[in-house]
Amino acid sequence: MTKIDVLLGLQWGDEGKGKIVDVLTPGYDVVARFQGGPNAGHTLEFNGTKHVLHIIPSGIFHQEKTNLIGNGVLIEPRIFQQEIAALEEKGVDATKNLYISKKAHLILPSHRMMDAANEQAKGGGKIGSTLKGIGPAYTDKIARNGLRVGDTLASDFLERYIMLKEQHISMARTLGFDIDAFRIDSLPLDEYEKLWLASLDTLKRFRFVNSEYFINQCLKEDKKVLAEGAQAMMLDIDFGTYPFVTSSNTITAGVCTGLGVAPGAIGRVMGITKAYCTRVGAGPFPTELFDETGRRLCEQGHEYGATTGRPRRCGWIDIPALRYACMINGVTDLFVTKPDVMNDFEEVCMCTSYQIGGQSTDEIPFEYNTVEITPEYTAYPGWQQSLQGISDYARLPERLRSYLGAIERMTGVNIAAVSISPDRKDVLFKQ
Ligand code: GDP
Ligand code: IMO
Ligand code: MG
Repeated sequence: MTKIDVLLGLQWGDEGKGKIVDVLTPGYDVVARFQGGPNAGHTLEFNGTKHVLHIIPSGIFHQEKTNLIGNGVLIEPRIFQQEIAALEEKGVDATKNLYISKKAHLILPSHRMMDAANEQAKGGGKIGSTLKGIGPAYTDKIARNGLRVGDTLASDFLERYIMLKEQHISMARTLGFDIDAFRIDSLPLDEYEKLWLASLDTLKRFRFVNSEYFINQCLKEDKKVLAEGAQAMMLDIDFGTYPFVTSSNTITAGVCTGLGVAPGAIGRVMGITKAYCTRVGAGPFPTELFDETGRRLCEQGHEYGATTGRPRRCGWIDIPALRYACMINGVTDLFVTKPDVMNDFEEVCMCTSYQIGGQSTDEIPFEYNTVEITPEYTAYPGWQQSLQGISDYARLPERLRSYLGAIERMTGVNIAAVSISPDRKDVLFKQ
């Protein structure tokens, strides 16, 4: 029996997971998403075209490979339908190689309304949710009220749908939310609902499977499986910067619950980090830069959300957070993306520890959200040259290699590869 490899984000998301999964897919038979939903925006670029995936695994462009949406994922059928249509426009027929877990939960239009209602009710304490209905849909899953993909085939599906929607409407009213003014894609709830219900037909064109059997059978047949994470370590519901997190386990443990594989079946754990750091939405970010350098990272890195278009907050790489991520996830290999964004920087800084209440520490404190954290930095000279055309890790500028070497030393994890542009071809593996 082979083991399942994992690829996940080690920061606050958008590390380049989609791109790396696409690059690794030729070495695998199956790519499986295990958590999250349309809050994710995974960007792939090749042949001069950019593609953004939200629910569909990033192996989909390799049509001979199997892709699976696991039980831990949330599906919004209308967004799914739009993703399928965008793929069809590019000549990709996903019905051939995409399988969906019957146990994956559905996001209803009224979950999206509840997301907006909950955010509004939080006033100044907003999470900065992507408003795709993630929190309310996972809430219903845990509360045992949710509707699953397999339920769409039941004769009483519509009745159950209406019951759940009515619960949401009454909750929104209790929160004083203006339901009549609420819009999804500029449409009132009942208009959007019609599109949502119609999109169930698109969903039903796909093969619904008992994905836990499906995946374990693949492993038994020695097929190579890659689990693709969404969001990232620091947005994990248990270990992230709670409550400024998403509502799922984004960590390696989430692979076990989100696909139905045993802990002993986990193989390599590949963790991705940018060469700097970003965060979108609210919550603590100790190394955030509010100055010209922060603006340069944002502009040169095109740091705008792939799902919401919001500008991402930018700052230096945070080693205490990265070490924490390596510990929780059991990371065996690091992938570093986007050093090219800092090509013209005179100096590149790395936060090696935190100063909290006069004490130096590299532990993430429980009080992360409330305590004042002063990052302690080590500065590295910039490499100040373009990386364009470099196709061999050993040919990267020495100053960049020494910066990367410092990341390896401080995390205790080897770098497997470095990505130096958005394009699929620019990933340099370190032999
Ligand atoms: P994901 O959510 O982790 O899949 O990442 P996103 O797609 O949200 O954000 C990553 C962004 O960085 C996308 O716009 C990618 O095209 C881009 N990107 C990925 N790797 C690199 C890289 O090595 N260099 C540069 N300049 N851009 C990259
Ligand atoms: P990918 O997979 C970056 C953030 C939101 C918000 C918080 C909760 O592209 O890396 P949610 O909609 O889940 O209730 O939002 O989490 N967030 C992400 N940030 N990348 C993502 O996904 C994200 N998914 C959610 O901005 O702060
Ligand atoms: Mg993203």
